[in-house]
Amino acid sequence: MQSLFVRDLAQVVSPAGRAAPLRGAALRSVDVLEDAYVLCRDGRIAEVGRMREVHQLGDDVIEIDGRGQVAIPGLVDCHTHACFGGDRVSEFDLRAGGATYEELHAAGGGILSTVRATRAAGEPRLREAVSRHRGWMLAHGTTTFEAKSGYGLDCETELAQLRAIAAAGAVPTWLGAHAVAPEFASADEYLDFMLAEVLPEVAALAEAADIFLERGAFDAEQARRYLEACRARGLALRLHADQFTEAGGVPLAVELGARSVDHLEATGENGVRALAASDVTAVLLPVAALVLARPQPPARALVDAGAAVALATDFNPGSAFCESLPIVCALACTQLRLTPAEALAACTVNAAHVLGRAKRLGRIAPGFAADLVLLGAPDWRYLAYHLGGDVVSSVLKDGQVAWARTPAAA
Ligand code: NIG
Ligand code: FE
Repeated sequence: MQSLFVRDLAQVVSPAGRAAPLRGAALRSVDVLEDAYVLCRDGRIAEVGRMREVHQLGDDVIEIDGRGQVAIPGLVDCHTHACFGGDRVSEFDLRAGGATYEELHAAGGGILSTVRATRAAGEPRLREAVSRHRGWMLAHGTTTFEAKSGYGLDCETELAQLRAIAAAGAVPTWLGAHAVAPEFASADEYLDFMLAEVLPEVAALAEAADIFLERGAFDAEQARRYLEACRARGLALRLHADQFTEAGGVPLAVELGARSVDHLEATGENGVRALAASDVTAVLLPVAALVLARPQPPARALVDAGAAVALATDFNPGSAFCESLPIVCALACTQLRLTPAEALAACTVNAAHVLGRAKRLGRIAPGFAADLVLLGAPDWRYLAYHLGGDVVSSVLKDGQVAWARTPAAA
């Protein structure tokens, strides 16, 4: 493989140190190198340094002009639902007219309407959908993303979703307990079926299991049963919890040693304290709260108490049809009271930690994957500052240019 030399960058910026996840004051510590370069070799970062220290490079090196740009690590989206059929634009219209997400869900819309469309799509169209969404994410700087199943709720479609996710190079999570499939009379009967018939098949395809613990979905006892069975099959554990109500998801996540608990819009002081004292990462999803006009999660309290915090899009057709981590960072800094440094760490190193990849992803440092985002900006904080702007100018994945903004016609 060739070497790539990204030269004359205004800044090269990376979360400091080698620890993961970062918490407390360490979450605020970024290394900023000015007038700098990054040398990539064989898909990895070989060197990072200042231009005045550049030594002789071999003939096989391809150069990229970084003037007027800054490099940050490739962004990691650790929570998406990027594999689905259809859309929910009509529901978006109804919600704009006053209907609530929970009302639509209770009336058989919401998640269940995407289940119908996903079952009808078939695997080839699901593969196309994930690959299309991967392209959208890449254009916003996401070089690694997780994606969940959970819109099949039957064996065939859940497996098709996980295969489509893996085929797109994403990290697959089995969300077998997203909602109760319409064929079942109760949540318990549905879980009996999923654990007996589907879990043995998905265990080899997925890296983690996830559940929606919420009024109208699954309760804490059902979540315990599902997650313990998944853990016994070697899956890492994640939970959607405290989105609308505090229903025991945080203590359960801590007790079971989950990788993450995600949403947390309704989490109170006890939950914040419990997370801060644990190894469970709090994954915050500010777009979902914004779109559903719900309160934002207690991000500042979590960080100040010492919890490990990550940020993600929650990209899905209902509550968060948004693939942009730069927009998530802007919301984090304006609505969640995080600093730009905290936001950057939360969607790089800490998100990589949630996916079990923090030794390889989330930093610009020798030995890490050569996944870089070049921002067309004089300062890395434009990532969060330029809300909705075309801040990403190009994206490198494994040392190759994976996406570049085409210059506007003169
Ligand atoms: O994380 N809350 C549950 N699941 C998703 C939404 C999925 C959907 O509405 O289709 C979430 O917000
Ligand atoms: Fe989600």
